Amino acid sequence: MAIEIVPVTPGFAAEVGDVDLARLTPEELEAVKQAFWTYAVLVFPGQTLDAEQHLAFAARFGPHETTIAVHRPDADKKLRVRREFADVSNLDPEGRIWKADSRVREFERANRLWHTDSSFKRLPALASFLYARSIPPVGGRTEFADLRAAYDALPEATQRRLEGRVAEHCIAHSRARIGFTAFTEEERKAMPPVPQLLVRTLPQSGRKTLYLASHAGRIVGLPEADGRALIDELIAHATQRQFVYSHRWRAQDLVMWDDRCTMHRAMGYDDLRFPRDVQRATVSDVANSCEQEGVQAVLA
Ligand code: OGA
Ligand code: MN
Repeated sequence: MAIEIVPVTPGFAAEVGDVDLARLTPEELEAVKQAFWTYAVLVFPGQTLDAEQHLAFAARFGPHETTIAVHRPDADKKLRVRREFADVSNLDPEGRIWKADSRVREFERANRLWHTDSSFKRLPALASFLYARSIPPVGGRTEFADLRAAYDALPEATQRRLEGRVAEHCIAHSRARIGFTAFTEEERKAMPPVPQLLVRTLPQSGRKTLYLASHAGRIVGLPEADGRALIDELIAHATQRQFVYSHRWRAQDLVMWDDRCTMHRAMGYDDLRFPRDVQRATVSDVANSCEQEGVQAVLA
């Protein structure tokens, strides 16, 4: 049976049916890829995947990332899931709901800000694959913003002004926005600021897109306050409702998104009461965004 692709929004999110991600034929993989480059968020309901199968599907798109949790001061304590996964759940290594004052809970609160995954790495993410093993009865949505459509909607003069601009991304920037500054020396050293293009071109579709995240802190060549104001203005523009798809999770949904041209954010739920076991596999892009387009970038 041919896989079925049903748009959820006209050009941004689609549901994919009649497919088992644990048993993809080459033709089905090709159809998924084509849909992925056309849309940027794909929802696969009702998937039954163990950790291996989840990782194997992601690996069809690129090399796995390693979670930044390995830099955490408590990383020697066991991680709950393999290091190829970002554990986006509210569970501790023993599988209990985290405590109100836990460091991980505080750190993960930054997922409530609009961001794209791993733009703070020199080699950023290409795509993320989030799989829901259990979900809260209410709340806990994930929202996605289409940065290609947001780019297209900008006035031409603004598009021209942004061309070739480089932003500095650092995980410390997004954490500072939520008042988290308790990085260890080891974490700071492991995750220094990196350059990324503000506007990029997607090789598969030829479309241009903004490349934005709460991890962006300043713009090279602009006074710090002006850069920050521009970033905030662009994030506000790109997250207007017409660019946003809001995903209500079902258990066993796998949702994949293109980190190069989307932002996402976690919505609230009663995280001290309901387990929400969601795990993310993430694959790297082919190169830093500046390098991909031959833009020289030197951070001040
Ligand atoms: C992520 C993320 C949001 C959510 O997995 O990268 O930001 O709703 N998740 O869990
Ligand atoms: Mn994320």
